[in-house]
Amino acid sequence: MLLSVTVVLSLLSCVCGENPAVQVVLTNKGLQYGKHAAADWIQERLSTITFPDITGSVHIVFGDVDYTLTGITIVKCDLPEPSVEFLQNPPGFKTTISDLSIAITGGWRTHFGLINDGGTFDMAIFNVDVTSVVQLGKEADGHLSVSSISCDAQVGDVDIEFHGGASFIFQPFVEHFKGRIRDEIQKRLCPGVEENIESFENLLHVMNVSVDVNEVLSLALPLTDIPIIGASSMNVGLKGEFYNIKAPVEPPFEAQPFTMPDKPSYMLSVGMSDFTLNSASYAYFSAKLLQLLINDSMIPAISPVHLNTTSLGKFIPKLAEMYPDMLMSVLVYAQEAPKFSIQPDAVNVTIKAVAKASVILPNGTQIPVFTINVVSTFVCWTFAVLTILSLGLISNLTLTLASSEVGTFKVNVPKIK
Ligand SMILES: *[C@@H]1O[C@H](CO)[C@@H](O)[C@H](O)[C@H]1NC(C)=O
Ligand SMILES: *[C@@H]1O[C@H](CO)[C@@H](O)[C@H](O)[C@H]1NC(C)=O
Ligand SMILES: *[C@@H]1O[C@H](CO)[C@@H](O)[C@H](O)[C@H]1NC(C)=O
Ligand SMILES: *[C@@H]1O[C@H](CO)[C@@H](O)[C@H](O)[C@H]1NC(C)=O
Repeated sequence: MLLSVTVVLSLLSCVCGENPAVQVVLTNKGLQYGKHAAADWIQERLSTITFPDITGSVHIVFGDVDYTLTGITIVKCDLPEPSVEFLQNPPGFKTTISDLSIAITGGWRTHFGLINDGGTFDMAIFNVDVTSVVQLGKEADGHLSVSSISCDAQVGDVDIEFHGGASFIFQPFVEHFKGRIRDEIQKRLCPGVEENIESFENLLHVMNVSVDVNEVLSLALPLTDIPIIGASSMNVGLKGEFYNIKAPVEPPFEAQPFTMPDKPSYMLSVGMSDFTLNSASYAYFSAKLLQLLINDSMIPAISPVHLNTTSLGKFIPKLAEMYPDMLMSVLVYAQEAPKFSIQPDAVNVTIKAVAKASVILPNGTQIPVFTINVVSTFVCWTFAVLTILSLGLISNLTLTLASSEVGTFKVNVPKIK
């Protein structure tokens, strides 16, 4: 009976998938902004693009003329404002460029029987319309994927002027074969668009879904699901989990679902749940990095209290009695991973630590003398606008004497409020 329940539960958890701890929301406003940047990028890219030679053959009154257009380069391109919109099902984008005009230049060569000829040409391509639909997806390892699902390109008209050679002979026939040239250009547009989408996809494919933050932590950011597109925004859920680079282990807690506030006036919002902070905390804790050995040389010389039995003996008389005038050390370590909980305008941090004090005998031997448990809760307020953490305040600090070899004594701290 228990087995079937477990199976159902694990099946359920498979179906539900994991909750994202980081969510990125791109609004329509952000998409429209991104479009400007993309249009500039396309415009720049067009000027550096190299075209393959176009070869063909046209029939004119005298017979078939083989032609080659070579060294085609774009001299001018007026890229009108493209339109981009979200598509919900399947999730993706539809991009339309209308009325694009391009001026290109290049060289021509013709081959007619034994006669070879050549020169230059100027071409204007008018009313180019391109509509491309891309679909967003998620690869098994959490990479974002983009693929072209449809592309349609129309070229309105072309105008060609040939210079040099015997161009004056065939310029009058341009009207007859420019349709062929237009078709040649038209049929190359979509493969060109698809090639660019594919190279973008290859770029995404080699991108790391995990980044090393420092020598201890790496942040895993694979997609938890395919991007979800609503009427006017896209939500991308990312795992957002910190791991210890040397010994990655899963923490004993899971990311809980959270909802991003609807902010259509923002271009991009990034939300993070406590899970991300807690996974970082757990990664440090499980790597035993949350510990510190304090000795007297770390305490400023001007401090009235020193880490020795004479100084602390004022509070713990038996300590001074048993170990007269000896240095001490304190090992402070986290008892469990510090726990973060994010409230709408504050971050609450709870730290449970242990402080173990030892006396250092003149021969170097360390004798444990007492242990104090420390529980402290910090609250860091955040300014919603700047999202900068303000000064953390200790709202609660509790010390309890867990064990002592030097008699009981009071452990209290002045209240900081
Ligand atoms: C991905 O990570 C590996 C190792 O962590 C690194 O060598 C590589 O350069 C990274 N690739 C990119 C594109 O950042
Ligand atoms: C105190 O600790 C520091 C750093 O761990 C160490 O360099 C120093 O020698 C220690 N001092 C004593 C008196 O043990
Ligand atoms: C202990 O600290 C006191 C100051 O609080 C200092 O006067 C004394 O010399 C220190 N003793 C040792 C052994 O460091
Ligand atoms: C902070 O968290 C602790 C433990 O989770 C809780 O007892 C306390 O009320 C919280 N404080 C605030 C200000 O939210």
